[in-house]
Amino acid sequence: MAFLADSLARIKPSATIAVADKARALKAAGRDVIGLGSGEPDFDTPDNIKEAAIKAIRDGKTKYTNVDGMPELKAAVAAKFERENGLKYKPSQISVGTGGKQVLYNAFVATLNPGDEVIIPAPYWVSYPEMVLLAGGTPVEVPTTQASGFKLTADTLERAIGPKTKWLLLNSPSNPSGAAYTRAELKALTDVLLRHPHVWVMTDDMYEHLVYDDFVFTTPAQVEPGLYDRTLTVNGVSKAYCMTGWRIGFAGGPEPLIQAMSTIQSQSTSNPSSIAQWASVEALNGPKDFIPAHNKVFKERRDLVVSMLNQASGIDCPTPEGAFYVFPSCAGTIGKVAPSGKRIENDQDFVTELLEAEGVAVVQGSAFGHGPNFRISYATATSALQAACERIQRFCGNLK
Ligand SMILES: Cc1ncc(COP(=O)(O)O)c(C=O)c1O
Repeated sequence: MAFLADSLARIKPSATIAVADKARALKAAGRDVIGLGSGEPDFDTPDNIKEAAIKAIRDGKTKYTNVDGMPELKAAVAAKFERENGLKYKPSQISVGTGGKQVLYNAFVATLNPGDEVIIPAPYWVSYPEMVLLAGGTPVEVPTTQASGFKLTADTLERAIGPKTKWLLLNSPSNPSGAAYTRAELKALTDVLLRHPHVWVMTDDMYEHLVYDDFVFTTPAQVEPGLYDRTLTVNGVSKAYCMTGWRIGFAGGPEPLIQAMSTIQSQSTSNPSSIAQWASVEALNGPKDFIPAHNKVFKERRDLVVSMLNQASGIDCPTPEGAFYVFPSCAGTIGKVAPSGKRIENDQDFVTELLEAEGVAVVQGSAFGHGPNFRISYATATSALQAACERIQRFCGNLK
């Protein structure tokens, strides 16, 4: 439509939302569908956090706050960064926004000029390239391999950096692969960055707390203090605290960047919900015993799904370190014929035929910049996961 902005032509709608819509439509038509597309914990927000929000409403904490976060929340975020990541940030170095998504977007809008490049290792979260494009920059997708655990290596990073590179965007644990970088793996990357002082790091640590098997989470500015002055450390309460709907994310970074992000927020959305901010103060300062309890369940589900998928003919599923996703390859099914008579040419065909034949909704890996894989979210009831994996096994077994 001619009335719409040109920038809209550059971006595409979210594939994960498209899958959820399709699954909902099939369900509405009476089909028995198991949706494994969702990117949010199935656990409820803990009661102490809900109570803090209710108290905020009762106490009349319902007015505008500082644009990029009220002092109490900035203090809680600063304490979190120091306690959990060994990073010291002053309140003026902290930005709070409406979800991690807004914080990331603000940072791109605040820094990207036309032609500026952002290195995005693939597979990546669907929103990264689109955000960079909307902000007027150029996403540079750098493929990784299943053999390297879907992780960027020092050599690949070195080759991807050019004079126009502004940011390296890291996401560990990753959506969609679940891959998380060890300290040594991160150090190899930060060593490369030390040699390229014009490149900054934006690290999306949203899944920090969702790691399994004694994996130790680290973040770039912690691994390499020499990068502190050019790192934006992004995190939030959405995933670990089961608060996706509350919409609070935050970042710590150099003051001039944080100021610029605040200016953008001041002229667009202003402060995130005051009530959600009070809930987040409680989340960050309050008890955290539910996190290991949730992780125990997530780990059991991960192990179940990985094991069942590896028993499906043509599927190869690595065991990821964290998040609540697995990202198996369906390469072994390519060229086979589905019950509908359609030949499977790629991961898009695989997920479409799986949904048609067995009513299991997963997301094609090409939406995340890496095929022929697909993403399963195991943030859903264990019984549903088991049933879905049985259907996937049957679907793969029936391919001719
Ligand atoms: C990698 C990653 N970063 C950021 C976000 C956004 O988080 P929020 O809900 O806080 O905006 C998500 C949500 O799916 C995500 O997967």
